[in-house]
Order: sequence, then structure tokens, then C-alpha cells
Amino acid sequence: MTIAPARTLTALVTGATAGIGRAVALRLAADGSHVVAHGRDPERGAQLVKEITAAGGTARFVTADLANAGEARALAAAAGKVDILVNNAGIYTFTSTPGTSAESFDEQFAINTRAPFLLVGALAPGMAERGHGFVVNITSTAATSPAPIGGAYGASKAAIELLTRSWATEFGPSGVRINGVSPGPVRTAGTTAMLGENIEMMGKVNLRERIGEPEEIASIVQFLIHADSSYINGTVIVANGGERSTLPQ
Ligand SMILES: NC(=O)c1ccc[n+]([C@@H]2O[C@H](COP(=O)([O-])OP(=O)(O)OC[C@H]3O[C@@H](n4cnc5c(N)ncnc54)[C@H](OP(=O)(O)O)[C@@H]3O)[C@@H](O)[C@H]2O)c1
Repeated sequence: MTIAPARTLTALVTGATAGIGRAVALRLAADGSHVVAHGRDPERGAQLVKEITAAGGTARFVTADLANAGEARALAAAAGKVDILVNNAGIYTFTSTPGTSAESFDEQFAINTRAPFLLVGALAPGMAERGHGFVVNITSTAATSPAPIGGAYGASKAAIELLTRSWATEFGPSGVRINGVSPGPVRTAGTTAMLGENIEMMGKVNLRERIGEPEEIASIVQFLIHADSSYINGTVIVANGGERSTLPQ
């Protein structure tokens, strides 16, 4: 048996300056990927690169405001040849339909849906040309579980779930695997800022009776870019602790 030397893959992780994206960047770097870490905050970006480098990995930081289509395209250009794209950057606003402004609706769709669309459009053709690559989209259980607030956010993530399946049919035949991870509530900078102490309450409704940790999402992303998941393409893995039965107990 010949063992081929491992090739370093380049992973672009959007929203790597906090929460789930940061955990994904650390996990993929520890796994041997060269990480192009994206975010807006240069201080937290530099701190992440320092942490990865200190642990023996390699990374660089690229900043871009993904609410802006031009900056999303510039991010793809700055990232260069990418083998793994993790579309993680996102915002969530849990407001009613009449309480959601056109600006808020547009911002959520620009960051959560349009930016991944532009990044895949710019980077997946190169992966297809090289005959291999991975895209992992971080969606949300809000994409599939209706709720009286957060409809615009859920819709922006439902669009990404449809795109995950579409992109798998578009690029899958060329050797690119495109999947998603749909988390339930996870303890991050974003959810902590939004919910404060109520964050623990969010976990009470699932079968594990707790909220998730960013590392529990990062490990699924790692699985989806490994040969261990070679038969998985165009699907979304749900990580929400398990739904309770809706039947009367
Ligand atoms: N946490 C949860 O419970 C949960 C559940 C389901 C799905 N998700 C999804 O998981 C992803 C990450 O969530 P999180 O809770 O980890 O988020 P978070 O802690 O709020 O961090 C958000 C990340 O996205 C970046 N970001 C936000 N707006 C941006 C913009 N306009 N341009 C570029 N980058 C921007 C932030 O960068 P800077 O900080 O540098 O600005 C940061 O790195 C999101 O897509 C979210 O919808 C989260």
C-alpha cells in the first residue's frame, strides 16, 4: 500500500471572529487546513490567527462586510484558491412580520443568503475544475420550524437549504460536495448578546435539555469535509439536541 502525503487544503471560513465560525476555524486549522479566516473585527481576527499559529497551524485574516455585494466578491478574490468554503457569517433578528423593516429584511438576506450565493458562484467553479472541494453552509432550525417571530431570518436560511441542494446538483457531478449544518440554539457571542441569561431557557425545550456549544457544530463541519462522509451530498444535518414529541404525554 502506498500512503500519499497529505495535501494542505485551504479553508475559507466566513464569520470566523466569533461563535460557531471561530470554533470551525480552530477545528479546521487543528485538522491541518490552512485557514482564511473572515470577519469584520480586525482585532478578534488577529487574535484568532495568533491562536491558530501558536498551536502550530496556519491562518490569515481577511475582512469584508458581507452586507455589501462588492465586498463579498472581493473576499472571494482575496481568498484565492479555496478547497473548503464554510458559509457561516450570519445575523438573526427575531421580530414579527410588521415589526421587521425593509432594511432589516434586506440586510438578513444580503448577509445570510446573497453573500453565500456570491461566494459559491465565485469559488465553486474552481473547485469543480480541480475535481474536488467542499462547501458547508451553516443554516438554522429556523429554516424549517415555523415561529411567530423571526420569519425573515428563517426565510433567509430556508433559501440557503434549497441552495445547498441546488448547488449539489450543479457542482456535485464535478466532485464538489455541498452540505449544510442546521443548528438549534448554540451558546455564542451573538445569542448571548441577544438572550442574556435566557440563553439557558432556549435549551430546555430539546431532548438534551441544554443549548449547544460551538464546538459541537464545528465537529460536524469537520466530518462533512472528510472522506468519512464521502456518500453525503446535498443534505443538511440537524444538530438541535432532538425535538420533543408533540403528542399529548
Ligand atoms: N448561535 C445560534 O444559536 C445559531 C443557531 C442556528 C444557526 N446559527 C447560525 O450560525 C451562524 C453563526 O452564528 P453565531 O451565533 O456564531 O454568530 P455570532 O456569534 O453573532 O457571530 C457572527 C459572525 O458573523 C460575522 N458577521 C456578522 N455580520 C457580518 C457582516 N455584515 N459582514 C461580515 N461578517 C459578519 C461576525 O463578524 P464580526 O464579529 O467580525 O463583525 C461574526 O464573526 C449564523 O449564520 C447563524 O445564523 C446560529
